[in-house]
Amino acid sequence: MLRFLAYLKPSTYYFVVASLCGVTIYLVPNLIPTSVGYVIDRILGESAGPAHAAKPNALFDLIDLYLNHVLGPGASKSSRIETLLGSLLAFLPFWGILVYFRAYLAGIGGQHVIFKLRNDLYEHIQSLSLSYFQKNRSGSIVSRLTSDIGLAQNFIGNACTNLWMDTLSILILGGYLLTLDVRLALVAFSVLPLWITSVRLFGQRIRIASHAVQEGLSEMSGQVQEKMSGVTVVQAFAQEKREVLTFHKLHRSLLDRQVTSVRLSSFNMAMSNLLTTIAPVTVILVGSLEVLHGRLTIGTLLMFWAFLGTFYGPLQRITDLAAVISNASAAIERIFQIFDIRPEVKESEHAVSLAAKTPGRIQFKNVIFGYDDAVILKDINLTIEPGEVVAFVGPSGAGKSTMIQLVPRFYDVKVGSLKIDGTDVRDLRIKSLRNAIGMVLQDNILFTGSIRENLGYGKPGATDAEIIAAAKMGNAHDFIMALPAGYDTEIGERGAKLSGGQKQRIAITRAFLRDPRILILDEATSALDSESEKLIQSSLERLMVGRTTLIIAHRLSTIRHADKIVAMRDGRISEIGTHTELLARRGVYHDLHRAQFEH
Ligand SMILES: Nc1ncnc2c1ncn2[C@@H]1O[C@H](COP(=O)(O)OP(=O)(O)OP(=O)(O)O)[C@@H](O)[C@H]1O
Ligand SMILES: [Mg+2]
Repeated sequence: MLRFLAYLKPSTYYFVVASLCGVTIYLVPNLIPTSVGYVIDRILGESAGPAHAAKPNALFDLIDLYLNHVLGPGASKSSRIETLLGSLLAFLPFWGILVYFRAYLAGIGGQHVIFKLRNDLYEHIQSLSLSYFQKNRSGSIVSRLTSDIGLAQNFIGNACTNLWMDTLSILILGGYLLTLDVRLALVAFSVLPLWITSVRLFGQRIRIASHAVQEGLSEMSGQVQEKMSGVTVVQAFAQEKREVLTFHKLHRSLLDRQVTSVRLSSFNMAMSNLLTTIAPVTVILVGSLEVLHGRLTIGTLLMFWAFLGTFYGPLQRITDLAAVISNASAAIERIFQIFDIRPEVKESEHAVSLAAKTPGRIQFKNVIFGYDDAVILKDINLTIEPGEVVAFVGPSGAGKSTMIQLVPRFYDVKVGSLKIDGTDVRDLRIKSLRNAIGMVLQDNILFTGSIRENLGYGKPGATDAEIIAAAKMGNAHDFIMALPAGYDTEIGERGAKLSGGQKQRIAITRAFLRDPRILILDEATSALDSESEKLIQSSLERLMVGRTTLIIAHRLSTIRHADKIVAMRDGRISEIGTHTELLARRGVYHDLHRAQFEH
């Protein structure tokens, strides 16, 4: 909560001004009971005879002073009533304006806090490592950014300024009620211990229930988001019914949690309503008896009774706020849980930048790696010289993709080291490292937007000429020009409106455009027909010149000319050599080759 409150600091101005408006707003309603008491005891009471004459009262004396100042002494009773209540009526529109400004400023302040918090959270999420995103569903991350933040917003919008204002006015008014009539005040306060117990009892439970609701909501968003983006598979396997059922089940569990939460808040509300209604009745009961015995005037009793409204009003609000605050603090807890997650791949404090024109020598030394506890890569020793083209082959699951993902430091090695031009990747600035690398990965992820935007994604500010030149190299220019809107064609979510081969060519061009020192191609040409593959092959060969290239291909024809072929099996390197050397060795590569070219 303290960490959250720190976010309020930059908006202090809004909250201070809102609070100042608040002071006036809270004072004015208290003028009404005072005026009522005054009118009855000092004006009407006098006509009713000396038995009803008022006791000494400082506030009444103040009103006397005011009326004498305006009307002069000896003004008629009716003109005093008119002036007093008339002034009050005249002031109320200003009060309305203040109410507006208070709500407005507090609201704006709250929005600014949320704005900063949400931005920081998004920035933090972006800084997390790939492994975090593999463990958490994207929909559930989204729900933290939307629904949890929304709840936190409830907290500040009004809660923050109401809370201390209400507390303050309860204390001041409580003190004043005590001076008015101790016995009556004690009767009025008698429900307070019960009230405090109920707030404490329910607050904690509401918070826990709300936490559960938010968890359920985020689970459901995760499910919806994933199944929406994979809707093709759902339809292809005709599993719509089942998805609806799964959704219903998740939703039902959310409903159960909501019901618990609603039950608790309703109970909480009932308790506080009950307590705050019991109090005035007991006050009137005891007070009337006091009046009968001549220990209290009717005016004071009425005044007391009217003050209870302004006393229990804030108390009631605090109770309602207790629920809001419980909900919000659950959300805030969830938000800061994310802030507490540290990226697994973290830039070292003494990190150095990799030169833009670095030669690109890659060295794996005794590398052991696994995503979690299971070891995937074992005893990897491999040196790739600058400008070399190295191909990785091997059966599916051998660890080829895993191996190349260590180079941009998507993950850190468990044991051993990975050096680029002599520096351990863990000592490099992550941005400079990744800027030196162009990647075409096994699944080509494109974003909603035009082809031009997608091509330029890795190089913001690329000129049209650069983009077109790269597209020609990537053998994408012709098909792009054949599209109705050319480079401005919108490609849909994840590039849904393009064919697999087209997406692949966009991805290749996107990597070309960065002019990287190190090129990583994971099955970059697998979605292409033999004709396009040949074309791409020639442009890839042009592109590879002068760059260190790591290429994974199942189709062995595409890597025949690599400088080095690394054959992998079960997370180990089993052979390294050129095409002819490895064929002659009659090992893994020979077997793979024979299987592919047997016909
Ligand atoms: N994110 C991950 N978390 C845990 N295990 C993973 C993860 N990614 C891959 N693996 C495991 O690591 C092993 C190697 O996978 P990898 O993707 O490197 O294989 P590959 O050689 O690229 O295979 P393919 O040719 O099919 O692409 C596999 O057994 C796989 O189950
Ligand atoms: Mg792979």
